[in-house]
Parts: sequence; C-alpha cells; structure tokens
Amino acid sequence: LRDNTPVRYDEHRECWDVFGYEDVKYVLKNPKLFSSARDRANTSMLTTDPPKHKQLRDLVNQAFTPKAIEALAPRIQEITDELIAPHLSEGHMELIDDLATPLPVIVIAELIGVPAADRQKFKDWSDVLVKGARDDSEQAFQELLEEKKRNMQELHIYFTDIMEERRLQPKDDLISLLLAAEIDGQQLTSDEVVGFCILLLAAGNETTTNLITNAVRILSEQPELQQELREHPERITSAIEETLRYYPPIVAIGRVAKETVELNGQTIQAGEQVISWVGAANRDSTQFEHPEDFISDRKPNRHMGFGFGIHFCLGAPLARLEARVVLHTLLQHMGNIQLMPGTALQPIQSAFVFGVKHYPI
Ligand code: HEM
Repeated sequence: LRDNTPVRYDEHRECWDVFGYEDVKYVLKNPKLFSSARDRANTSMLTTDPPKHKQLRDLVNQAFTPKAIEALAPRIQEITDELIAPHLSEGHMELIDDLATPLPVIVIAELIGVPAADRQKFKDWSDVLVKGARDDSEQAFQELLEEKKRNMQELHIYFTDIMEERRLQPKDDLISLLLAAEIDGQQLTSDEVVGFCILLLAAGNETTTNLITNAVRILSEQPELQQELREHPERITSAIEETLRYYPPIVAIGRVAKETVELNGQTIQAGEQVISWVGAANRDSTQFEHPEDFISDRKPNRHMGFGFGIHFCLGAPLARLEARVVLHTLLQHMGNIQLMPGTALQPIQSAFVFGVKHYPI
C-alpha cells in the first residue's frame, strides 16, 4: 500500500490512509491543516490544537523532562525487582500479567500521587479504561460502554477527592504540581486537572505494557540479540528505539482535515478523517536502510513510534526508562528468554495498537 497507494481513500471506513514516511510526517507536523480536535467535548492536550494545546502541555512538561524522569529510575528498579522476585525460583512468568501491566500502572499511580492503599482500586479503574482491546469476551458492546461510563464517573470522583486534599495540603506529587502550575496568570480548572490524570492512565499504561512485551518478544525471537545486549548493556537503549520502529505499540494516529488540502497528488476535503500509519512509515525504505531487519544499534533512527511534532509523546522518557529497566533486569536474571513452547500468539484486536494478549516466558 505504501508503495502503490501512499495516500488513499478507504470508502468502507470513510477515511484517508497515509502510509509514507514524509507524508505521515507532513500530517503530524501541520496541526493547522490536520487537527487533533476530533471531539469538541474533550479538552485533554491529546485532542486540542494550538494555542490551547501549548498551554496545557507547558503546564506539565517540567514533570516529564528526561531529567525529572531519570530520577525515578531507582524506584522503577525496585518495583521491577519486586514484581519479578516471586517468579525467579519458578523460572517462568506471564510477562504481561506479572510485569508489563502492573509496572506502568504502579509508576503512574505513584507519580500522580495515588496513595498506596488505593493501588488495587486504581489498577481496576485503569484496566476498565483501556478494556476492549485486550478483552474480546462476549460481553455486549453496550454493557462495556456502560461499564466504561461508570468507571469514568468513579475515577472522576476519586481524583476530585484527592485534588481537594492536595489543595489544602500539597505534597510532592503531580496533582499538587498541576494545582500550583500557572501560565499567563491562569491555572488549570479542576476538570482539567482530573482530565489530565485520566489521560495519563489512558495514554501511558497499555502503550508501555506493549512496548515492554514487544521488546521482550524480539529478544525471544532473536536469542543472539540477548547475548549481544548482555555483553553490551549500553545497546539496550538503541534496541528499545528499534523496537519502537519495528513493533511500535501505536501503529496509527488519527487527525481530521481542517481545510481542503493536497497530499501526494490526492485532494483531502475539509472535515475528512486522516489516519497516519506510523507503523508503515517506520518501515519506509526511503528513510530506513533494510527496513525489514531489526538492527539493534540502528543510527540514525528517526522512527515515529512516539508520534511527531507538537503532540510528540509526553511520556516518552518514562516509557523508555521503564522498558530499559525491565530489559536490563530480565537479561540479568534469565539465561535464555523464551516464549513458552506451544504458545499461540493472539494479537490485540485493534487497528491502532500492536501487541499480543499473553506472553508467557
Ligand atoms: C502522545 C505513543 C507512553 C502520555 C502520544 C502519541 C503517541 C504516543 C504516538 C502522539 C499522539 C498524537 O499525535 O495524536 C506512546 C507509546 C508509549 C507511550 C508508544 C509507550 C511505549 C506514554 C506514557 C505517558 C504518555 C508512559 C504518560 C505517562 C502521552 C500524552 C500524550 C501522548 C499525555 C499527548 C501529548 C500531546 O498531545 O501533546 N503517545 N505513548 N504516553 N502520550 Fe504517549
């Protein structure tokens, strides 16, 4: 598709698909032409355009700089060790359930300022937030919608309570920081603070779970890579970047055209949906040599696994750090990481997400 119809209209899904590296980049770097505001009721930074987007993002940027995030490394190591410990003597674990799912949830909970006693409740809410992709039981669609609505209300009430506590007695956590933050004399509204916390859960948890799993999957598919990274742990960082290119947790990013625009010979009308396939762009041979090969120390590696432009993933430093700690720790403790023989991989049922449902190792 990328070679023959790099920009094409899909009649069935009623949207444009964009596959080539330069075209995807063009869409993502032009928010004036391609808007993120698909739903006007939603005011999170992910779904707003400039100038509102910059205000929201500037308020939280400082909490997510690589330096601020690097300070979390010892704690992330501690949580990883705790999660792995019970499985070391057994020699096997369900990577997703035992490690790749709980780790990001616990880290975000602590970052936001959720008390440890509420961890389980918090995890349940977080699970329902992204439910659907991983859970394809017979549960009727309507029921799931109802469950999600209830869940959202509960999360809203929960975060509002914590917010009110922090207003009276600030702590060293993200909620307190959000409450204190000011830009041009303006503070975030209560709804914006709560909305941002919920956005972090929705944007940061399943994506990181899939990055960790996809990276371990590559290790188990390429045993020689395990040895290479054990001998050269400094290459883990670039192997994670290559995972984001090769098996990106998010393969597609949606926008809506704001005006009629020409793209690679096609005319996109104002109001039409545009899907940027970063998964396809990440394997475009005009940008990457041997795009179908996993090259652990690929340089340069301008993949778009975290998007591109003003909406470039806020949580990228955190996701990178968590993946680094996990790979490092697993490689240290496990002589040979292998997918449990006889496991049939089940893809997550989503066009936008690349990952599997179970990964016993
Ligand atoms: C935005 C991917 C982890 C928070 C994005 C975007 C992508 C992405 C592709 C751009 C969306 C767009 O342009 O519309 C990923 C992947 C992750 C990951 C692959 C894990 C491997 C995280 C984490 C957090 C997070 C851990 C937070 C703790 C966000 C937020 C945005 C975002 C808040 C919106 C930024 C903006 O609109 O300016 N992410 N993400 N993400 N991500 Fe991530």
